[in-house]
Amino acid sequence: MSDQFLPFAYLQNKVVQFEDANVSVATHALHYGTAAFAGMRAQPDAKSPNHMALFRPELHFKRLSESAKLLGANITEDEIASKVADFIAANPSDKPYYVRPLVYASELGVVPKLHDVAFDVLVYGVYMGDYMASDGITCCIASWTRSEDRAIPLRGKISGTYVSSALAKSEAVNRGFDEAIFLNSRGKVAEGSAMNIFMVKNGVLITPPVTADILEGITRRSILELATELNIPIQEREIDRSELLLANEAFLTGTAARIAPINTIEQFNLPKERPVTTALAEALKNIVDQHSDQHQDWIVPFSARSE
Ligand SMILES: Cc1ncc(COP(=O)(O)O)c(C=O)c1O
Repeated sequence: MSDQFLPFAYLQNKVVQFEDANVSVATHALHYGTAAFAGMRAQPDAKSPNHMALFRPELHFKRLSESAKLLGANITEDEIASKVADFIAANPSDKPYYVRPLVYASELGVVPKLHDVAFDVLVYGVYMGDYMASDGITCCIASWTRSEDRAIPLRGKISGTYVSSALAKSEAVNRGFDEAIFLNSRGKVAEGSAMNIFMVKNGVLITPPVTADILEGITRRSILELATELNIPIQEREIDRSELLLANEAFLTGTAARIAPINTIEQFNLPKERPVTTALAEALKNIVDQHSDQHQDWIVPFSARSE
């Protein structure tokens, strides 16, 4: 991922230069992970000049509002949408970028708690091209177990949860793999370090259910909708580790990478032919590249003020 930041950020209800978007060392969220975030791709809109197109932004705003609610912060979808709109208006670009809104406990203090805590919303962005090789990645099975919903609310995209993702991702890279696959506390396949997982067996597209301690990904949901339209049979059900190792196809999904086909898991090579993955990746790409008449409502233009 690029670390080239967009020139403007949004902090404490206003747009500021990225360099000036700073918080105190005593910020609660910095110490306790008491924050929730979203991640969206923005790209120059092919149909509306001076606009950036976002993929299903209303679902991202809803998930962030609900994530914040789980932390006790009351931020509506409309409030988030309006702050993201201000951020995009300040950052016109001819290159795609990643938008990161964060609802964070902005209180200064040393008590880990969520009552009587002030929250703020910040937004910043980084330029982002292709995040992961579309010709396939290698995965290990993480030695870390995916967190569980009775320990931390996994319906939310809560910052503190990502310590586990970071451990798993770095373990994978240190072992020479691109990505990690988490098993959950029941030993079933959960997801990647920050992506959902699918496998194909005998022509059926299978993904863990929303009760498998996964984050309910917006790309995951979109893939399930596209598969239904392409008449690909789908099952949302638990997946055993050995099933995954013997899958005909497997891939990860997420906003940044969209679809990342898996070539190998540990020492197991998956078949190079992947017709279902290819069909779904093409269908999704046609929509996001605005080459398809299907699902035009998934691509929403936001006005970007030209310089
Ligand atoms: C833990 C986790 N799972 C799955 C996903 C994929 O979700 P989405 O498709 O909404 O980006 C993400 C990324 O947001 C994530 O952080």
